[in-house]
Amino acid sequence: MCGIVGYIGHREAYPIIIKGLERLEYRGYDSAGVALFDGDKINLAKTKGKVSDLKKKSEDTISTKGSIGIGHTRWATHGVPNDVNSHPHYSNSGELVIIHNGIIENYESIKTELIKRGYTFESDTDTEVLINLIEEVQKKENVKLGKAVQLALNEVVGAYAIAVFDIKKPDEIVVAKLGSPLAIGMGDNEFFVASDASPFIEFTNNAVYLEDEEMAIIRLGKEIKLRKIKNDAVAYPNILELQMNLEEIEKGGYDHFMLKEIYEQPRAILDTYRGRLLADQKLIKMAGIDEHLDKFVNANRIIIVACGTSWHAGLVAEYIFEDLARIPVEVEYASEFRYRNPVITDKDVLIAISQSGETADTLAAIKLAKENGAFVFGVCNVVGSSIARETNAGAYTHAGPEIGVASTKAFTTQITVLSLIALKLAQEKGSLTDEQFTSFLTELEYIPTKVEVALQSNDAIEKIAEVYKDSPNCLYLGRGYNFPVALEGALKLKEISYIHAEGYPAAEMKHGPIALIDESMPVIVIATNKGHYEKVVSNIQEIKSRKGKIIAVVTEGDVQVKELADHVIEVPETLEALTPLLTTIPLQLLSYHIALMRGCNVDQPRNLAKSVTVE
Ligand code: F6R
Repeated sequence: MCGIVGYIGHREAYPIIIKGLERLEYRGYDSAGVALFDGDKINLAKTKGKVSDLKKKSEDTISTKGSIGIGHTRWATHGVPNDVNSHPHYSNSGELVIIHNGIIENYESIKTELIKRGYTFESDTDTEVLINLIEEVQKKENVKLGKAVQLALNEVVGAYAIAVFDIKKPDEIVVAKLGSPLAIGMGDNEFFVASDASPFIEFTNNAVYLEDEEMAIIRLGKEIKLRKIKNDAVAYPNILELQMNLEEIEKGGYDHFMLKEIYEQPRAILDTYRGRLLADQKLIKMAGIDEHLDKFVNANRIIIVACGTSWHAGLVAEYIFEDLARIPVEVEYASEFRYRNPVITDKDVLIAISQSGETADTLAAIKLAKENGAFVFGVCNVVGSSIARETNAGAYTHAGPEIGVASTKAFTTQITVLSLIALKLAQEKGSLTDEQFTSFLTELEYIPTKVEVALQSNDAIEKIAEVYKDSPNCLYLGRGYNFPVALEGALKLKEISYIHAEGYPAAEMKHGPIALIDESMPVIVIATNKGHYEKVVSNIQEIKSRKGKIIAVVTEGDVQVKELADHVIEVPETLEALTPLLTTIPLQLLSYHIALMRGCNVDQPRNLAKSVTVE
């Protein structure tokens, strides 16, 4: 879960690498480093801390000249975050240098072998072991760098996206991939290497995404050479034309990516259903579903696997699928599913939900389901990501790049895609009346405007945040469709403000959490007018009689809850199944303001990374 960047061409490499690392910092931000070749020697700087710390250190201590270089931003797996464990790492001779995203699982045994052969190690990392293994192979077999990388990788178990540079071959960078993403930007006699396309998007729209077990030799003035790591077979680069643009990955006047992304939701939801929802024709058109409709309609059940926020979207989808399309659904944490010997058959459809499309546990769950004959469908945001490629079919959320580590627009666009699928299946199965189906389509089309309205509560929410910013705990309650929203609200608060928060189905409160309630406990209750409203009102009364502080998210025009709650935040009225798309918005804003007031790093919360490519 690190970010890697490389450049070889005719420009100065350093600014490209630093800018690229800043864009990839969402992938890890506990240390960073850069190595540049100035035509004579390698200049390397690395440090614990952020890319801004690296920038300062490199500009103070090394020459930043040169048109070949590699850089890294780290999320520590082996070895604490410190200067020495930061990447890049040299081989013992000082001739090879590497950056690595992933984990080498058998590094201990390789290290022991290398120590016996006289190698020494400065860091605690698996990466330093890998670069010395490459050096050892290169010497022993007397082969060029590409071959040495290939032979060495055949000895390792684990996951990697690597870029290796050899001072003896200064016109070349060798890259390889297994399990971690690696994109090559194809410029005009220049190449870029990165964990995703954001570091090079202003230079080229053409990119090659390496497949697992592929490597490439990138040489100036030559075509890139792709080959399979396992068996030498030549692979042909599939050059994709990227749609991403620069504005999408910059803050655009907002103080933080998270706020920008919260505010992008009306557009993101619209982009996600645009061209798929044809209300006038009473039609939903989604290629990934249309081509495999029989699989879904004849499925015994749908299994949804995901992690974190995407898992919460899966829970909302469970309600929607069962309610609208009458298909049984199970929602599983990918990390549990993959290890619990689940019963999977060829009558199952597995839907994997992932913003990044790179989450290791979700990817493993997909592979397990495929091996057992299930049809696997992906709902991803990142185009060309591993999950998008690994699934039998899929539908992208068109949220655009999500840079803030806390997921916001990915969640609402995932729900949008999943609602479209449920509606499509409901239409096919005839489980909704024509009238119900049409009203759903019409209402979905109003959602972007209604999200705009929900966003107008921002100032009021900021005032509420001021009152509760110092609370050590927070409880979130919701029922039915809004139970997953309560979970998501609690996750958002804890991950960016470090306040302990829990989400519960409102009725479960009396089975335990009610013991926590006193005058110092803020309870956020989602109490929209549809779906067990009266029962939620009873829950609110139970909290009130124990002096808990109530912040209620209600439907516009609510009277009853207003009389009971300490604060109310209104959202527009909509169909019950679509309420999560609106009720989520104030909870995202509340977390954002509280985190900001507590001085937390909203976009890069501690210990987290955007893309969890390790299990
Ligand atoms: C929370 C958050 C994480 C991710 C989770 C899954 O705000 O971002 O919980 O939702 O790591 O990531 P994806 O969706 O990329 O598989």
